[in-house]
Amino acid sequence: MGRAEAAAMIPGLALLWAAGLGGAAPSTPRLRLSFQELQARHGLRTFRLERTCCYEALLLDEERGRLFVGAENHVASLSLDNISKRAKKLAWPARVEWREECNWAGKDIGTECMNFVKLLHAYNHTHLLACGTGAFHPVCAFVEVGQRLEEPMLRLDPRRLEDGKGKSPYDPRHRAASVLVGEELYSGVAADLMGRDFTIFRSLGQRPSLRTEPHDSRWLNEPKFIKVFWIPESENPDDDKIYFFFRESAVEATPALGRLSVSRVGQICRNDVGGQRSLVNKWTTFLKARLVCSVPGAEGDTNFDQLQDVFLLSSRDRWTPLLYAVFSTSSSIFQGSAVCVYSMNDVRRAFLGPFAHKEGPMHQWVSYQGRVPYPRPGMCPSKTFGTFSSTKDFPDDVIQFARNHPLMYNSVLPIGGRPLFQQVGAGYTFTQITADRVAAADGYYDVLFIGTDAGTVLKVISVPKGGWPNAEGLLLEELHMFEDSAAVTSMQISSKRHQLYVASRSGVAQIPLHRCAAHGRACAECCLARDPYCAWDGAKCTRFQPSAKRRFRRQDVRNGDPSTLCSGDSSHPVLLEQKVLGVEGGSAFLECEARSLQAHVEWTFQRAGESAYTQQVPAEERAERTRRGLLLRGLRRGDSGLYLCAAVEQGFSQPLRRLALHVLSAAQAERLARTEDTAPVAPPGPKLWYRDFLQLVEPGGGGANSLRMCRPQPAPRPQVPESRRKGRNRRTHAPELRAERGPRSAADW
Ligand SMILES: *[C@@H]1O[C@H](CO)[C@@H](O)[C@H](O)[C@H]1NC(C)=O
Ligand SMILES: *[C@@H]1O[C@H](CO)[C@@H](O)[C@H](O)[C@H]1NC(C)=O
Repeated sequence: MGRAEAAAMIPGLALLWAAGLGGAAPSTPRLRLSFQELQARHGLRTFRLERTCCYEALLLDEERGRLFVGAENHVASLSLDNISKRAKKLAWPARVEWREECNWAGKDIGTECMNFVKLLHAYNHTHLLACGTGAFHPVCAFVEVGQRLEEPMLRLDPRRLEDGKGKSPYDPRHRAASVLVGEELYSGVAADLMGRDFTIFRSLGQRPSLRTEPHDSRWLNEPKFIKVFWIPESENPDDDKIYFFFRESAVEATPALGRLSVSRVGQICRNDVGGQRSLVNKWTTFLKARLVCSVPGAEGDTNFDQLQDVFLLSSRDRWTPLLYAVFSTSSSIFQGSAVCVYSMNDVRRAFLGPFAHKEGPMHQWVSYQGRVPYPRPGMCPSKTFGTFSSTKDFPDDVIQFARNHPLMYNSVLPIGGRPLFQQVGAGYTFTQITADRVAAADGYYDVLFIGTDAGTVLKVISVPKGGWPNAEGLLLEELHMFEDSAAVTSMQISSKRHQLYVASRSGVAQIPLHRCAAHGRACAECCLARDPYCAWDGAKCTRFQPSAKRRFRRQDVRNGDPSTLCSGDSSHPVLLEQKVLGVEGGSAFLECEARSLQAHVEWTFQRAGESAYTQQVPAEERAERTRRGLLLRGLRRGDSGLYLCAAVEQGFSQPLRRLALHVLSAAQAERLARTEDTAPVAPPGPKLWYRDFLQLVEPGGGGANSLRMCRPQPAPRPQVPESRRKGRNRRTHAPELRAERGPRSAADW
């Protein structure tokens, strides 16, 4: 034993950040879509109740076609097809006497002494189980939702309330983590008013309630529960286990290191009924292991120590789902988030490995080397592994060992040994995750939807990298789901309906899983997007149909290489030439924006009267490249000519615009102004645009030199570093070609 070994349990404790990662730039999504854009063009639908906050519990009911929502003082039932349509709501406030007690206890009557509905489970064919904080008086109720699908129902009998202690938290700031298995609820909560008695609790159902050993920091040490899952281990239901995901203060940390946060996975057996002589009505099969999500580095590991959410993605068999988890950091110097993926087999291996052991207060935590009693603690009483039929039959030495050794020595490492995806210095952190397994032309892909504390959802795909099982995450989209950038509190996905449902403090939002047309109008753009939901059908970027003929579903998720897929495809949109006017000495803005944020724009120029294109746009000091176009200052007559811009991505060039710039002399511009002055009435329609132009050349407007653009254009914005753009709405789509009412050529004058 010794320091080194003890430290090995918590690798990289001393260094919470590494130079290499701290300086890394955050990934840029290929598409960034604002709330307004999603609402106007991509089917974003929203739901909110008046004067109600804190939408936290979401329950997806595919059969009834409903999304049940828990919020402040309310439960709502929404249509899965359109959450804005025909919503039903049920008011469920806390009782007046509970609110008064809550207020006497020093809590805020307006923000804390309410019933925050934290938990919703499908209970039986006619009822949901709903639990809320009840103004620091946890309460549960069975909500009748009816059997008939056509007539959504939502009813609660206020005289028949159940005790919510050990099911819902008291404090609205705390989360509830629970799973309903049959009639029994397994939950991880603080079971007291002060929020100190944390427990893993089984309640409801016929059997006596069971809990963790109270006030034993080896079992639970100020935990924050995240998720609970019921996962079978074999065909035999006696082996079924319940897995708890949480984070807590590390008991195994040496005091010198101070308080350290660790993430955990814990297990219990479903058929645990507690011990006979000791651990009576307590778990006898509780074990926990550390869940590691870190990036190894030369100077130490970068640790993402704060588990935020876990999503269980089913695989072919029921007992080996994949676990997708999001983490953030507790460090104040280093802010980042990561996605780590775990295999259930690795979780089970940790529980079969050595136990962590501490001989006494002055000793270090080490790997237990002594004899482990039989049946091995953590094993469920079942015919599969032994002869015990109940935990009450377990020998005393097994119970004693279980009580003193809840922690495993080995940690659970992510698949590939490092995060699948991380985002450092992006100005936001990950809060939620959900995933969808999608059949694409070249195999199956996991598409991840990651909610952030800035009200956005990131769409990330997992693509193989190097040999199996290594993979990396590619950021495809950043979707701004809420107008007010409120943190994402909960997410549900419907693969069947192809919809994502996202909750926050301010409301609930719904969005389809894909927006293929947003990727672009060319085969190459569709291919470069690498979206497993989308393919090029010969004419447009559209939903991928595995059954369609091969040439109508061109897609390359793995490489995103358009050169082979799109060769011979003459589907480039025809680029109409657009005329742009400028005045000598003034400036002109040539608008051109790539749809993809991962593309860069290249300009080529053909001087008027010359036949060759050159890369040389006017000299650097007069030409400023912005995200939205090219700003030319101090215009000269010789700048007249044809400007062609193209988006270049992965070495593939996509022409975007052809702009013909004509630079007028100041005298020409003034002549033009006079003509307009004497014109009796400006004809409406196409000519309107140059009235703005003329205002600019009026002497009162400062003369010809003040002419900044030949056509009213939004002012070009300088590029803002990614990290400073958080929370603002941005325009990200390329402007549509506006050739239909383009300005007339200078020759017309
Ligand atoms: C959803 O329902 C709302 C309210 O009835 C309606 O205005 C909206 O157009 C619907 N959206 C879609 C995409 O069906
Ligand atoms: C569902 O549970 C509720 C609450 O216990 C009960 O009143 C109701 O009868 C049950 N419904 C069915 C179909 O079992």
